[in-house]
Formats: sequence, C-alpha cells, structure tokens
Amino acid sequence: MSKEKVQIFDTTLRDGEQVPGCKLNTAQKLVIAKRLDELGVDVIEAGFPISSPGDFTSVEEISKVVKNATVCGLTRSVKKDIEVAAEAIRHAVRPRIHTGIGTSDSHIKYKFKSTREDIIERAVAAVKYAKTFVEDVEFYAEDAGRTDNEFLARVCEAVVKAGATVLNIPDTTGYCLPEEYGVKMKYLKENVKGIDKAILSCHCHNDLGLATANSIAGIVNGARQIECTINGIGERAGNTSLEEVVMVMRQHPTLNLDTNVNSKLLYSTSQMVSESMGMPVQPNKAIVGANAFAHSSGIHQDGVIKNRETYEIMDPADVGVTESAIVLTARSGRAALAYRAKKVGYNLTKLQLDEVYKEFLNFADRKKEVGDKDIHQIIEISKIDTKAIA
Ligand code: KIV
Ligand code: ZN
Repeated sequence: MSKEKVQIFDTTLRDGEQVPGCKLNTAQKLVIAKRLDELGVDVIEAGFPISSPGDFTSVEEISKVVKNATVCGLTRSVKKDIEVAAEAIRHAVRPRIHTGIGTSDSHIKYKFKSTREDIIERAVAAVKYAKTFVEDVEFYAEDAGRTDNEFLARVCEAVVKAGATVLNIPDTTGYCLPEEYGVKMKYLKENVKGIDKAILSCHCHNDLGLATANSIAGIVNGARQIECTINGIGERAGNTSLEEVVMVMRQHPTLNLDTNVNSKLLYSTSQMVSESMGMPVQPNKAIVGANAFAHSSGIHQDGVIKNRETYEIMDPADVGVTESAIVLTARSGRAALAYRAKKVGYNLTKLQLDEVYKEFLNFADRKKEVGDKDIHQIIEISKIDTKAIA
C-alpha cells in the first residue's frame, strides 16, 4: 500500500533567516532555493516581501528560478502586505500567499488591543483579498498553540469559507506538549465545517525542544503539511528541523506517511545552509551533526564494527553521509584500534594489538581524540616489528 504524502513547507529563507546574524543576500538565497527545489520540498517560503526592498527582490528572483515547488510569500492581514507579496511572487509557477493574524487572547489583547470578533473579520478579509491575486492562500493563526480550541475552530471555519487552501496552526512560542498539539489538530479535523477543503499544517517552534515531537503528533492526528527549516534554525530556539521530520517518517513505516524529499541530499544541504549563514551545526544534532554517525565508546564501537545496526537506526548513506565514524578516544577498545589501524595500513596480530593498545591508552589519556597520524606514532613507540605486521 502506498504511503500518504505529507507536504514539506520549507521556511529556512523566512523563519530561518530571521535569526540574528543569519542574514543572506539575494544571490545566496537563490542558491539555497534551487537546492531546496532539488531536495524535493513542496513549498519554499521565500521571504516576507513587504519587510524590505531586499527581501522583495529575493522573493521575486526565487519565484523566477524555482521549477517544481510552490513559492510562498508571507504577509500580515494587511492589504498593502498582500499586494506587495502578490507582486513579488507573480512569476512563480505555483504562487502562494501566506497571510494571517494572532488568535490567542494574549495577542488579541496586547498586540491588537482588539476583540475576537474583530480578529475573525480581519482574517476573513485578508484571505478574501489574497484570493483576488492567487488561488492558493494559506492562513496562519499566530500563537494557535495557546489559542483555545473552540475559538481556533471558529477562525479556521471562517477562513476556509473565505477560500483558504491551507490552515497553518503555529505553536509560535513552542509551548505545547505533543499530546496537546495532537489533540488540537484532531479537534480541528473533527469540528471545523469544510475542513476537507483545506490542508492542516504544523508550524512548531523549539523553545522546549519539542518542535519535532509536536509536528509528528500533528501529522499523526490529521495534519498533512509540516513547516520546517534546514538544521532547525529559526526564531529563538528555532523551528522544526526538516531533516528530522523527514527521517522520522522514513524510519517508521508504521506511520504510513512519507514525503517527496530526496534524503540523500540532506547532509550536503545542511552543510550548504550552515556555511552560507555562518551558523555552525551543533555536533550532536540529529541526522546531520558531525557526531550523528560517530561512535567513540569501546562497547558501541565493537558492536558497530561487527554489525552497523547494533547502534545505528539508519544507514548514513541514506542521508548523504559517506560512512559511520569510529572515533578513537581513551574510551575506545581494542576492536576500534585494530579497525582504524587496518585502515591506515597495519593489520595487527592479537599480540601486536595488545602491545599497541597499551601505548594507545597512554596517548589517548593525554589527547581528546587520536587521529590517523597519531596511530603511526603509537605504532613506532610500541616498538613492534612493523615488517612483521601482516
Ligand atoms: O511562528 C509563527 O507563528 C510564524 C507565523 C508568522 C507563521 O512564523
Ligand atoms: Zn514561526
């Protein structure tokens, strides 16, 4: 049975680029947009066109070069924003306007100094106006994570009636628990009249480290789009990480869900985004971090050398990483040392390995990591007859 598709909406160039110090110029954005298209994402949120002339130009140029993905421009529920976004995406093969407004009591009271009824009116007016420019209009209910479900359902019903094709339910502040976010999606699926005319979308922030878990809870409960970024970059603690949600679906066939993403391009895309934004990837980052497929403790190394699956739940090649790494540290065992020594040309016998291992431990206690050059030095210090090495 073929799996149901979950759309991947990439917002690296909008929510991701909001990170201080991650600003990109148009040329850099074009390179990333082309790569995202090649990667197989369904939607590229190219920017917030009214925010600056530079962002307008980037969205306009991206719209011209992207061949497959929908190109989306963000707006507030403000006429001028919508007009400018429509202008910026006019060359896109598949244009989308992403408009919306805050729906939580906190946003209504403090940001808009308004009422719930007025917010619904503004939301509907924005969607109707956006529909005069493009067919595909996504609506976001900002701070939906802290919006009560009954009111959220009223907002959703009104904007679907006005023509919204996608309903974005952002956990803007990263507050929700996975179960709570899942229940929210289920509630909307069951209580919004006309919901079958729209796709529910997850947009989760990572303030409590739950963005990926919340997005997965969302799709398990009926959402069919995830908004995410490469390396999980984004406001504050970031957004849902694209590589994580894609691989969760790939590695869990029982979910019966999949994406159009070519996972073999994940690692190189992560590197490309990290380098152009000057934003290093944390070494322990799932899927794309330097240590994601590195093994350093003796017990794990012995297992992986015997069979990779003992300590790896996915094949590094599936995400574009060439091979698992056996890192030599003071916690490594003989199996790892023999394995790495063989790679640099020494096929040690058991007795030779015992000798070399003693020197290795002395060496490793003084160094964080033992490299290939160090192995040659250790063999030399061990005074074993290298000619006798097989
Ligand atoms: O986090 C959020 O609520 C957003 C919206 C603008 C979609 O980024
Ligand atoms: Zn966001």
